[in-house]
Amino acid sequence: MQKIILITGATDGIGFETARMLVSQGHHVLLHGRNPDKLKNVQQKLSGLSDSGRIESFVADLSRLSEVKTLAETIAQQHAKLDVIINNAGVYRTENTRTQDGLDVRFAVNTVAPYLLTKRLLPLLDEAGRVINLSSAAQARVSPEALAGKGLLSDSEAYAQSKLALTMWSRHMGLSLKDSGPVIVAVNPKSLLGSKMVKDAYGIAGGDLSIGADILCRAALSDEFATAHGQYFDNDSEQFSAPHPDALDTRKVEQVLTAIEDVLMQVSGVAWFFG
Ligand SMILES: NC(=O)c1ccc[n+]([C@@H]2O[C@H](COP(=O)([O-])OP(=O)(O)OC[C@H]3O[C@@H](n4cnc5c(N)ncnc54)[C@H](OP(=O)(O)O)[C@@H]3O)[C@@H](O)[C@H]2O)c1
Repeated sequence: MQKIILITGATDGIGFETARMLVSQGHHVLLHGRNPDKLKNVQQKLSGLSDSGRIESFVADLSRLSEVKTLAETIAQQHAKLDVIINNAGVYRTENTRTQDGLDVRFAVNTVAPYLLTKRLLPLLDEAGRVINLSSAAQARVSPEALAGKGLLSDSEAYAQSKLALTMWSRHMGLSLKDSGPVIVAVNPKSLLGSKMVKDAYGIAGGDLSIGADILCRAALSDEFATAHGQYFDNDSEQFSAPHPDALDTRKVEQVLTAIEDVLMQVSGVAWFFG
């Protein structure tokens, strides 16, 4: 059956490969990217792959929370229902690590943007819906202050903290929606797959991107993920796994959730965030 699937960061790497697979399978794919020309190019490349699949494109820089909000509004204006959201867009290394909103770009793009996008689009997802969040084997204890934009972290530390924070909110939101909402699951797509992120960060060619795309398609569509509310799938071990211990620590999870909500309040202002 054709599903309506939003994938962020569909212009490169695992996201592009996943979009390619989903379009080839005849799904209706909403491509997201930050660069309009690159996005247009991707839409053109994918448009011939299927007779039945539909493709739409949406532009937003996810390091700007106002653009995340506008992205969600635009999608909601055009769609009454989504089946799957794949929060794939992510950043490890970049020249300017501070966003316009005063946050570390890793926390903004990898943690807060998918949280805001998911919350805003939840009304479009029913109980059979799914939200797939791109986690990583790289996870480190989250400093709520760093999440809020205080201090400077190395690229690896900021990335690893942002991915644990994402895994923590995924588990919390997934479990809290267990009986009423979509499945929300965090997935490590496999370490060191050959994307530009991995090439830039580690200077290696990396593995086959289709391994990451395969597991995201399974997470989006297969029965094995149908009841995986709040779980963590580790594709390095190819199974559901225990998350980082901090994701099981209620107090630490609360601290991270509070820090994310505080960021949204401070950056966006109560008026437009709830408006
Ligand atoms: N590759 C791996 O081995 C690996 C392992 C674990 C987890 N992951 C995760 O998998 C996801 C995909 O990564 P990848 O390896 O495929 O990296 P990638 O090739 O660098 O792709 C990242 C995607 O995110 C987009 N993006 C980055 N910053 C953005 C922003 N500010 N606003 C909107 N979009 C933005 C990029 O857009 P542009 O095309 O415009 O740059 C690109 O489409 C990430 O969440 C990453 O953390 C990857």
